[in-house]
Amino acid sequence: MIRSVVRGFGSALPKRVLTNQEMESKVDTTDEWIVQRTGIRQRYIADESETTASLGEAAARAALDNAGLTPDDIDLIILATSTPDNTFPASAVDIQNRLGMKHGAAFDIQAVCTGFVYAMSTADLYIRGGMAKRVLVIGAETFSRILDWNDRTTCVLFGDGAGAVVLEAQEGQGTAGDRGILTSHLRSDGSHKDKLYVNGGPSTTGQAGFIHMEGREVFKYAVGMITDVVYDALAATALEVEDIDWLVPHQANIRIIEGSARKLGIPMEKVVVTVDQHGNTSAASIPLALAAAAGDGRIKEGDIVLLEAMGGGFTWGSVLLRW
Ligand code: ACO
Repeated sequence: MIRSVVRGFGSALPKRVLTNQEMESKVDTTDEWIVQRTGIRQRYIADESETTASLGEAAARAALDNAGLTPDDIDLIILATSTPDNTFPASAVDIQNRLGMKHGAAFDIQAVCTGFVYAMSTADLYIRGGMAKRVLVIGAETFSRILDWNDRTTCVLFGDGAGAVVLEAQEGQGTAGDRGILTSHLRSDGSHKDKLYVNGGPSTTGQAGFIHMEGREVFKYAVGMITDVVYDALAATALEVEDIDWLVPHQANIRIIEGSARKLGIPMEKVVVTVDQHGNTSAASIPLALAAAAGDGRIKEGDIVLLEAMGGGFTWGSVLLRW
């Protein structure tokens, strides 16, 4: 059977680093509070010349280089983002143009912090359905643009960045020994939509709006939702928790990451953590973490890698793959 195998990975970050110490001069906060409650020490913030599409393009080019491929080899681009450059067209089309691609197709997926998981699952279906041979899956965000910089409860949490993978159709045996995506599980429950949302949009205010979050409510649901879809992934593949070589979670908050790992029985040595460096980059956080851990040699060919995320909506999901 056809499997969607990660052939290349890459990432891109804005030039500017904003440390917690600098944050202390912007809002009434402290490095100690931020580190203790979230694990975040710094985040990257896009300047005027850096946008979701430009960061996405840079990550895409890095992933293509890593795969030894060119844009000619790609037949679909899926971009996960909640902060597109324009209301329309999709920023995926902008990235397609920046890459000089006139063939194939490109579209955005919007599932907030679960966006990259949704995008990987969608790309896998295109590949296994025979509609695409190689898909560029990108997560790119400029959440700094939708932060209220006077609201200390949200502005300390988020950052900007982009990551990408190239998924390629390869023949597998149909067993959990195959390389590539083995299973994916997507969920949403819109009854939670007001717990984490942006108070604007084309159809309502005509403005992009700012992030609003009931932090404790999000926290309350996060670990349960995340672990549910991880158990779904294990049940679907008959793999055990012990088989997981790397947990690559959405990087929202170290306490959610540690709480999920503890509940699952996965030691923190097997968890990729970048939230300290990047903050919460929403749909970009998982591909940024993948690029970090594959780039420094932690994630190796043949490893079982579990991606999971939960975010606005609520949306949540998991992707289990063999690297
Ligand atoms: N600096 C200093 N003090 C602060 C700050 C800050 N940046 N922000 C809030 N406080 C204060 C509050 O005003 C409050 O003060 P009070 O007791 O005098 O009223 C106190 O700290 C405690 O506030 P809480 O909101 O109760 O703090 P909590 O321990 O819940 O931590 C946090 C807040 C970090 C947001 C936590 O709720 C959390 O992690 N929630 C999950 C949110 C999350 O991760 N969201 C993203 C996931 S979804 C996605 O990725 C889009």
